[in-house]
Amino acid sequence: MPDTTAHPRNDAEHRDATDPLASLRTRFVIPDEKLIYLDGNSLGRLSKASLDRVREVVADEWGDRLIRSWNERWQTLPQTVGDYLGQHFLGAAPGQVVVSDSTSVNLYKLASAALDARPGRDVIVSDLNNFPTDRYILEGLAAARGLELKLVEFDELLGPTADQLRAVLDGDGLAGRIALVSLSQVDYRSAALADLAAVNQVVHEAGALVLWDLCHSAGSVPIELDASGTDFAVGCTYKYLNGGPGSPAFLYANASLIDGVRQPIWGWYGQNDQFAMGQGYDPVPSATRFLVGTPQVVGVSLVEAGAQVLAEVGIKPLRDKGVALTEFAIELFDAWLAPLGFTLGSPRDSAVRGSHVSVRHPEAYRICRALIEQDVIPDFRTPDRVRLGMAPATTRFVDVWDAFDAMRRIVETKAYEQIDPTRTDVT
Ligand SMILES: Cc1ncc(COP(=O)(O)O)c(C=O)c1O
Repeated sequence: MPDTTAHPRNDAEHRDATDPLASLRTRFVIPDEKLIYLDGNSLGRLSKASLDRVREVVADEWGDRLIRSWNERWQTLPQTVGDYLGQHFLGAAPGQVVVSDSTSVNLYKLASAALDARPGRDVIVSDLNNFPTDRYILEGLAAARGLELKLVEFDELLGPTADQLRAVLDGDGLAGRIALVSLSQVDYRSAALADLAAVNQVVHEAGALVLWDLCHSAGSVPIELDASGTDFAVGCTYKYLNGGPGSPAFLYANASLIDGVRQPIWGWYGQNDQFAMGQGYDPVPSATRFLVGTPQVVGVSLVEAGAQVLAEVGIKPLRDKGVALTEFAIELFDAWLAPLGFTLGSPRDSAVRGSHVSVRHPEAYRICRALIEQDVIPDFRTPDRVRLGMAPATTRFVDVWDAFDAMRRIVETKAYEQIDPTRTDVT
């Protein structure tokens, strides 16, 4: 029987009482205080500022100002919000980030641009267990261009390390053949956090370009795209950045590369002097060239509103809280869940861990469903992971305590055996 006396609930209450970010939660719409939401790494919570902003953009800017709003505000939103994300979350100087389309589409645009910039090279390298959309897009590009997609198996708890990558890039007759290496900074399963600068250096030594997926790091860990020598990056805004369901994604292209690359979709929003309506495509000399069509104004506006709430406190305190929450989760895991047959699916060292923790159990799916029935919302990741996202802005230490206590009870009492094992669409 796991020992619960060593970790009383008032320990979690004390941590909340002394949490310097505790009041940030009041900036969010939380209709049900009893709901334990540990999925902010999948869909971040709604900020009150977003509610105000949606009214403003729909009622005032659209309803009242109508088409005049394009000149007054909307036309440059992808760039201004992109620069804002660059400044506060991505370590990117202005002119390199835009907010548009989805992560998948942005990945396609940038991967394609990178491949064009490395003619004569015929290999793309990625992670065998990279997020599916990344693999499919690279697979499609490789098929369309007759390239080889080399998928490398990295240790799930270490992620793509510079050393392992160097061994791959140096081996197998790959010298001079690699055009692009595309990886995720935080593993969506384990939260293993890759070292951007170290990996970038190895990729550059091989003469290739690097494209990072920052979906699980943006808004939860400090990112230094410029300082780390990153070439390209994409990421979504609906997770830790709280942009809302399906909110437009961001993309980053390093200023040193922009003039020399073109994306595959030559739309008018990437065109110099767009309203001259001229002949021939002549792309803007900034990340604007990666835009395609009319910006999703409501969506981009909500990205800005969500990000502003976090930017007010800054990424460093958010990261510190993310570390404290995940450390606490691992403490409870060791005390309560390890004795019940769970294994830890995330790195123990917070320096190489993002802001979620995965715990593994053969009955993970039914445990997840049982948790949801008790108003504790994590998510399930195949085949055996319960993934618990600790969004630093809104997650309390008591949420972590209550979730682990619930999980412990569900397994101790075998309550999960009452759950139908048929999988739902979104897990
Ligand atoms: C690492 C990663 N990449 C990409 C995506 C999804 O991209 P899109 O917004 O294009 O569906 C996700 C979604 O969860 C993700 O976790």
